[in-house]
Amino acid sequence: MGRPVAALLVLCFISVTARAAAFRVHGRLLADDATEGGAVVPIHWTQAMNYVANFTIGTPPQPASAVIDLAGELVWTQCKQCGRCFEQGTPLFDPTASNTYRAEPCGTPLCESIPSDVRNCSGNVCAYEASTNAGDTGGMVGTDTFAVGTAKASLAFGCVVASDIDGTMDGPSGIVGLGRTPWSLVTQTGVAAFSYCLAPHDAGKNSALFLGSSAKLAGGGKAASTPLVNISGNGNDLSNYYKVQLEGLKAGDAMIPLPPSGSTVLLDTFSPISFLVDGAYQAVKKAVTVAVGAPPMATPVEPFDLCFPKSGASGAAPDLVFTFRGGAAMTVPASNYLLDYKNGTVCLAMLSSARLNSTTELTLLGSLQQENIHFLFDLDKETLSFEPADCTKLS
Ligand SMILES: *[C@@H]1O[C@H](CO)[C@@H](O)[C@H](O)[C@H]1NC(C)=O
Ligand SMILES: *[C@@H]1O[C@H](CO)[C@@H](O)[C@H](O)[C@H]1NC(C)=O
Ligand SMILES: *[C@@H]1O[C@H](CO)[C@@H](O)[C@H](O)[C@H]1NC(C)=O
Ligand SMILES: *[C@@H]1O[C@H](CO)[C@@H](O)[C@H](O)[C@H]1NC(C)=O
Ligand SMILES: *[C@@H]1O[C@H](CO)[C@@H](O)[C@H](O)[C@H]1NC(C)=O
Repeated sequence: MGRPVAALLVLCFISVTARAAAFRVHGRLLADDATEGGAVVPIHWTQAMNYVANFTIGTPPQPASAVIDLAGELVWTQCKQCGRCFEQGTPLFDPTASNTYRAEPCGTPLCESIPSDVRNCSGNVCAYEASTNAGDTGGMVGTDTFAVGTAKASLAFGCVVASDIDGTMDGPSGIVGLGRTPWSLVTQTGVAAFSYCLAPHDAGKNSALFLGSSAKLAGGGKAASTPLVNISGNGNDLSNYYKVQLEGLKAGDAMIPLPPSGSTVLLDTFSPISFLVDGAYQAVKKAVTVAVGAPPMATPVEPFDLCFPKSGASGAAPDLVFTFRGGAAMTVPASNYLLDYKNGTVCLAMLSSARLNSTTELTLLGSLQQENIHFLFDLDKETLSFEPADCTKLS
């Protein structure tokens, strides 16, 4: 369990530029009739602290599974031709055994849409190398039929033949990226909206991703909404992230200081933990320490910065309330940020964003803090809406 969390500390922001050319490739989500054009994808939590979907690729279908990465730029899975690959729970995808697999030739709009510094055409096969949240990977670009939950679609994907990911991702064979790029699942299926609801990681229940018309909140006055925003004028290319603007933060009744203009929040499902701008992080750490009322461990468990022995933690930690542009307030209860880590230790599942070496004052909202909140991304209205939910009941 330790490795992926530790790997967070080398979490590097992906710098592939989503250059030009919207290719809404094969553009359709062929869902079954029951979902009226929408689709439901069950996802499950793994020991590596990721949310993962099982799916199949090709004809006849071959099983695969991938981490659902909200900011992920592309869909990729390891292929049979792999020279340097990590262990996975399913057999490597064999493109030669699928009669719907098409290797992407060079020079097509799809191949040309890949930035030239990461594209590598040889022998008329479109190949690429990309940094992903899990590590650097490279392979061939291909298209094939994917069946994910109730969704069926022909997708362009990375048929990975080399990666620098050591060991294993604890089962998955790749990543399904939902990010704001031409190559993500969301863009390729052309959906106007998607939503997800992450069940508590220790509930032993599936979570769900909803694509297209199945993505909707219960509403009933509980839903809040905030615009998706862009970051302008800084060196980081974070265009693949869905972003909102944080304007207020409270721990219980205490105001937590933020920079005068607030902080841009990157929504993320790959990192289980959140990163707060340093001043806010220090204030939250202090408020939580006081509320828990136990002396913190002198040496917190890596990669955390604040841990308590569970037995000593008597006090109730406060709700954190994030207020986004437009007044949308999101409550994160202590159960979403105090992680029952292991061996009788409870750790604050948040770190200072100083640890990310980013040049801007960013906040990153990790998956643990999103549990039991249903998030809806409306790509026509460019809004994020959310409401508290029992995510175990939605999947
Ligand atoms: C952040 O910068 C420090 C000092 O330059 C370096 O040692 C560390 O590896 C960097 N961390 C990341 C995550 O890039
Ligand atoms: C995903 O697939 C693996 C085998 O590849 C299986 O063990 C697991 O139960 C599946 N999970 C779900 C939620 O379907
Ligand atoms: C491009 O691919 C060729 C053949 O697979 C390889 O030898 C070369 O190192 C690659 N170049 C880059 C820049 O990735
Ligand atoms: C953010 O950038 C995208 C792509 O460049 C653009 O389509 C969108 O309208 C921008 N949104 C805002 C709020 O400026
Ligand atoms: C668990 O805690 C006990 C007692 O504090 C300690 O001896 C042991 O090394 C710890 N085990 C791990 C895996 O941290």
